[in-house]
Amino acid sequence: MNAQVWQWAAEVVAAWLLQRRSPRDAMAAMPVLRTGDPGERAAVARASSAALAAMRRLEFVLAGPAGLGHWRARERALALVLGAAVERDELLADAATRQFEMLDGGAPPEFARLLRTDELLAATRDGEARTFARRHSLPDWFAPRALSQFGSEADAVVAALAAPAPRTLRTNLLRVPSRQALAVELQQEGVATTAAKYAATALHVQGDGDLFATAAYRRGAFEQQDEASQLVAAVTAPPKGGKVLDLCAGSGGKALALAALLQNRGLVLATDVHRGRLEALRERMARAGADNVQIAVLPEHDLPPPVAAFAGHADRILIDAPCSGTGSWRRRPEARWSLDGDGLASLCATQDRLLDRAAALLRPGARLVYATCSLLAEENEQRIEALRARSPELEVVRIAEILGAAIAAPIADATGTFLSLRPDRHGCDGFFTAVLRRRRP
Ligand SMILES: C[S@@+](CC[C@H](N)C(=O)[O-])C[C@H]1O[C@@H](n2cnc3c(N)ncnc32)[C@H](O)[C@@H]1O
Repeated sequence: MNAQVWQWAAEVVAAWLLQRRSPRDAMAAMPVLRTGDPGERAAVARASSAALAAMRRLEFVLAGPAGLGHWRARERALALVLGAAVERDELLADAATRQFEMLDGGAPPEFARLLRTDELLAATRDGEARTFARRHSLPDWFAPRALSQFGSEADAVVAALAAPAPRTLRTNLLRVPSRQALAVELQQEGVATTAAKYAATALHVQGDGDLFATAAYRRGAFEQQDEASQLVAAVTAPPKGGKVLDLCAGSGGKALALAALLQNRGLVLATDVHRGRLEALRERMARAGADNVQIAVLPEHDLPPPVAAFAGHADRILIDAPCSGTGSWRRRPEARWSLDGDGLASLCATQDRLLDRAAALLRPGARLVYATCSLLAEENEQRIEALRARSPELEVVRIAEILGAAIAAPIADATGTFLSLRPDRHGCDGFFTAVLRRRRP
């Protein structure tokens, strides 16, 4: 890896440290990365993500021997990028020491060794949760929750959250006849893929090729979408020609997947509180050839009569809820530093409000689908339990009933009740999905 990549990655990290600008936005604002070599761009993304994900652990090690505390944000950013590269064995000790010498004050020779070994972390005595948080570079509010929820598997779960995420595509069956046909088309454009294990439409991309420069992308043959999100659409399972109200459509990843499942029949009404995100969906609809999606901004405390009327006939109401995003930290490493315990409590309150709103709109026999990319029971099972206590007319539809026992078994929880995906087990983002039905009177 060349030194220029470390420098660019450090710029991306500095943009987050100084302005809380996401790596995606920071990279988009750097012309040299927008137009440059896709391999270099991918290397910058990986290097900056690794630095942001490992930030807490790196700062702990660097603050002592290397005196990180005295560095300004740009030097700190470069130190984090170099430190993450040393940890991942991408930067040899001698080279690392030379790179660090370029930073103000340099770094003592033992620094690279300390980053590679457990010595400093192991020598520090602290409570179990704090030690776990530091070792895995986690925020303090998350570590005790992960330990109590995942027990002996906690190390594996959080290690998977620090690994690079796969690049996954959803085959757009409105534009191509099959996943295999898309794989062949991409192969001809120099992009190799492999079929994903669980979602029938998902392909994993090999290598760093520029997907968005392909003719297949321009003609809408695929969307970039994690396998877990594709499974949420599969579990929503709209009936043929059915109507779906997507209450948190954002820029429409799941709305477009549902539109394709409906084979351009029926209707998906994509709503969100955020107008800008819905505008992005409009562009994506045109490229994907999805003619069965309509868009409406839906303020949190208002219900325009056309939306209420649609809801009264909807077969499915989907809540792809705002959440901690803990299941997708691999893709947004900075997100682990953007929330605290109060933020989590406020997200749970929003989730309850959205669930109550959907429950009130649900007609008898229709299904409410609740999804989060959170790993935490507080945002998942506990929200559903609380909803059912408030709305006893709702019954759970088991994932095994929707997909069949054999397909559901590897991706559902132990009882086949909820979709329960984890990066360490399934390789996709962590996702939870519950399906509820309003009993007929
Ligand atoms: C997880 S994202 C949705 C992602 C989207 N469904 C997709 O598949 O690309 C959650 C969305 O909920 C929206 N949101 C936040 N609070 C909301 C609320 N009170 N009512 C409706 N939508 C809300 C956010 O604007 C955001 O777009």
